[in-house]
Amino acid sequence: MILPVFVRSGADLRIEVASMPGVAQTSVDEMLRDAAAAAEAGVGGMILFGIPDQKDATGSGGWDEYGAVQQAVRALKREFPELAVITDVCMCEYTDHGHCGVLNEHGTVDNDATLPLLARVAVSHAAAGADVIAPSDMMDGRIGAIRSALDAAGHTETAILSYAAKYASAYYGPFREAAESAPRSGDRHGYQMDAANAEEALREVALDIGEGADAILVKPAGPYLDVVQRVKSATGYPVGAYQVSGEYAMICAAADRGWLDRERVMMESLVGIRRAGADFIITYFATAAARRLRDGLA
Ligand code: PBG
Ligand code: ZN
Repeated sequence: MILPVFVRSGADLRIEVASMPGVAQTSVDEMLRDAAAAAEAGVGGMILFGIPDQKDATGSGGWDEYGAVQQAVRALKREFPELAVITDVCMCEYTDHGHCGVLNEHGTVDNDATLPLLARVAVSHAAAGADVIAPSDMMDGRIGAIRSALDAAGHTETAILSYAAKYASAYYGPFREAAESAPRSGDRHGYQMDAANAEEALREVALDIGEGADAILVKPAGPYLDVVQRVKSATGYPVGAYQVSGEYAMICAAADRGWLDRERVMMESLVGIRRAGADFIITYFATAAARRLRDGLA
């Protein structure tokens, strides 16, 4: 299991996300406390999202050597070398318009102009010491662009986890509050996939593997278990599933009302994802679930 975290600059900061009980934006020092708890419970790694101090049209905060993500990566590799460090690469947390790429003069995302910027972000994460780069933007050709840029900069050992099968989902709502990344206008249907389409996911996955992806991510997880299973059996590649913010929020909200048993539903939802064939799961429950497994509670 992999724990997602939201890091921002500063010290002593822990800003709870209202729609995700137990999840917070944290400064790097506070994030290290969460990492300590995760490592102690047996979590395999973390995936980092950054909240920059300032946003602009090109998302330049994304490749800042002293950005929150870059600082967090260095701190994690120093303090918890046993944890895998994955960084999410996307523009939406860093752009003032909130889209996952830069915009052209018509206000729509310019796929090809975005590629070198994503590559620049990826190289800065690798330079900080990230083990795995996870592009979540869904631009066409990004895996190839990032792979060449990493290799050219000498980061030949840095792996790429592609969010190849990323659906345009209503389940991302709470994340956009956590990452302050809701698009100011329009939506992401132009670059994320349509829920009704499973074949397209398999095509996207094949393209990304051809461009050099080392592992594949399916997202969301629960409503797309058939996709997890098909991607696993079609490719044999390492396949991860992202149990996203809305899946987490639903379980927490129902449990808060006493309508569901939080611990049991948490485990059942994760077991289902595993049963579908996921080799690893990105989940906000990572620390709690790892702790239960460590203590021998299913
Ligand atoms: C950004 C990104 C999103 C998530 C991960 N990376 C949101 C989006 O596309 O709007 C969602 C994760 C979650 O909901 O937990 N590209
Ligand atoms: Zn994005």
